[in-house]
Amino acid sequence: AKVTTTEMFKKAYEGGYAIGAFNVNNMEIIQGITEAAKEEQAPLILQVSAGARKYAKHAYLTKLVDAAIEDTDLPIALHLDHGADFEICKSCIDGGFTSVMIDGSKYSFKDNIELTKRVVDYAHNHGVVVEGELGRLAGVEDDVNVSAEDSSYTRPEEVEEFVKSTGVDSLAIAIGTSHGAFKFTPEQCTKNEEGVLVPPPLRFDILKEIEERLPSFPIVLHGASSVIPKYVQIINQNGGNLADAVGIPESQLRQAAKSAVCKINIDSDLRLALTAGIREYMTAHPDHFDPRQYLTPARAYIKELVKHKLTDVLGCNGKA
Ligand code: G3H
Ligand code: 13P
Ligand code: NA
Ligand code: ZN
Repeated sequence: AKVTTTEMFKKAYEGGYAIGAFNVNNMEIIQGITEAAKEEQAPLILQVSAGARKYAKHAYLTKLVDAAIEDTDLPIALHLDHGADFEICKSCIDGGFTSVMIDGSKYSFKDNIELTKRVVDYAHNHGVVVEGELGRLAGVEDDVNVSAEDSSYTRPEEVEEFVKSTGVDSLAIAIGTSHGAFKFTPEQCTKNEEGVLVPPPLRFDILKEIEERLPSFPIVLHGASSVIPKYVQIINQNGGNLADAVGIPESQLRQAAKSAVCKINIDSDLRLALTAGIREYMTAHPDHFDPRQYLTPARAYIKELVKHKLTDVLGCNGKA
């Protein structure tokens, strides 16, 4: 059934695991994810960005998700990722989403509260839940010096007031993750014995402070792709050029999943798996041009990736 995240998060919090929130843009991505979740009997959050909505259109995505629910019989939440303003949230609430994110993290604390509260009031009146955000995720484009970096992490002393005065149902925080496949520059990383880039660890100390201030409250981790070397290598061996791609180590994501973190956002890993499948097929079959031929292995890589995430990283298998 199409559900909100309320029940999912309650069980995840108590069970010490996290729900995977996967970004979707087309049929093959939705099928790869939901086929994996069906085999693993995992609850799911399928999330749609403004860019996804522009690419595929609202009606196509909502109906593809409806089809996936019919096909899998799983509890699936349909979530707006990074809603930038009240209007896009309203449009998704009115148009069949069960959850929206209002991302007011770029505004002042006061303006973030005001905007988030406005969305929460509308959403709750319509049976929809809301994710807010405090703190800013680092981007590789920011030339980080330590104090600037520190100031972008979520400030634990702000979380209670934010949650209380907005009424949000979950809170996205910044503890050192970032979006995309190049989360850290090589200069920010150290190298292990095999020459693999190791990024600076997430700020679990900040997460712990937030947890203590918000007992039983679900926390969300954005920018949580691990940028799995296997798919990067396949891409690079088949005409791609993704040098120094680096993500969040899965050991740290496992640790996060055991904590108050109940939702872990994954987009880049899906993009890498899909692209790896297409590139590998194209190299092996330069004479093929039927999209069903190259999208079949690409979709299978998505399914393989999502199975791995559900069972080996998030721990939400068998929880549907
Ligand atoms: O947070 C960003 C997500 O990966 C969605 O990316 O805006 O390019 O669809 P997008
Ligand atoms: P990644 O780029 O790490 O996959 O993060 C996705 C995300 O946070 C979507 O909101
Ligand atoms: Na958890
Ligand atoms: Zn995000």
